[in-house]
Amino acid sequence: MEVVQTVNDVRKALLSARKSGTVIGLVPTMGALHAGHEALIEAARRKCGVVVVSIFVNPLQFGPNEDYQRYPRALVKDLGICRRHGADIVFNPSVDEMYRTPQLTFAEVTRVSEDLCGKFRPGHFRGVATVVLKLFNIVRANRAYFGEKDMQQLAVIRRMVADLNVPIEIIGVPTVREADGLAISSRNEYLNPAERRVAPVLYHALQEAAGRIRSGERDAAKVRETAMAILRAEPLMRVEYVEIVDPSEIQPLSTISGPVRIAAAVWIGGTRLIDNVGN
Ligand code: PAJ
Repeated sequence: MEVVQTVNDVRKALLSARKSGTVIGLVPTMGALHAGHEALIEAARRKCGVVVVSIFVNPLQFGPNEDYQRYPRALVKDLGICRRHGADIVFNPSVDEMYRTPQLTFAEVTRVSEDLCGKFRPGHFRGVATVVLKLFNIVRANRAYFGEKDMQQLAVIRRMVADLNVPIEIIGVPTVREADGLAISSRNEYLNPAERRVAPVLYHALQEAAGRIRSGERDAAKVRETAMAILRAEPLMRVEYVEIVDPSEIQPLSTISGPVRIAAAVWIGGTRLIDNVGN
């Protein structure tokens, strides 16, 4: 496995693969790798001749009062995980390398990024889309892998690629969960033991809501209230949003007539958790 820090070096490392037409797979991450990231790397490994994992905590996608500074960083452990799960190249640029010139150009996907997390994290998806487009242009992979756990992010990237004719195939990977249902996330590390015990309620509330749709409920407000009531019953949890949305444009629905995603964000103490399920 090769570890490179610069745009030039990652391009050099990919030269022979590109010449021979080998399929290049990219797994963009912010590090602090866990079983969710491992599933992405393994999915890429199965289908691609060369697997590139990028590890970059992207300042552009964090708001001024968010956790950029305290976001977990664990490069040595991350490199071990990449090696064990079959990565060929790890691209770990510095902030100066990624943002050599002050960034005046941005990728903004309107509508898809406006509700749910977009409402509470202004500029977040602009920062995500911009860094992901930069990574696509740096690596020029054939395929890129993203988790369904960050459903709105996946929808934003799919739409950016479609709208801008970016020559890459986007692959969504199902959410990896702890045994008790909690979606695995780097931010779970922030939870203290009492907070960790209530965290799975987020997934259970979404499952209950999905169950109501499966048993015939078509009124999104009622489905939403099912999840809300379960979450509000937890004194350690504060609900940021629960929404029923269409999977491609992430627009809140009032009537359910086809496939939807039920998505929620909650705060437990100082930790923000998100999750989503389908019907
Ligand atoms: P990060 O939070 O490190 O996540 C990297 C990728 O892992 C994302 O595609 C995310 O959806 C996926 N992932 C995280 N937890 C998962 C889980 N439990 N199951 C399946 N997949 C999971 O998302 C980002 O980084 C950044 O926004 C990034 C796309 C790298 C741009 O900076």
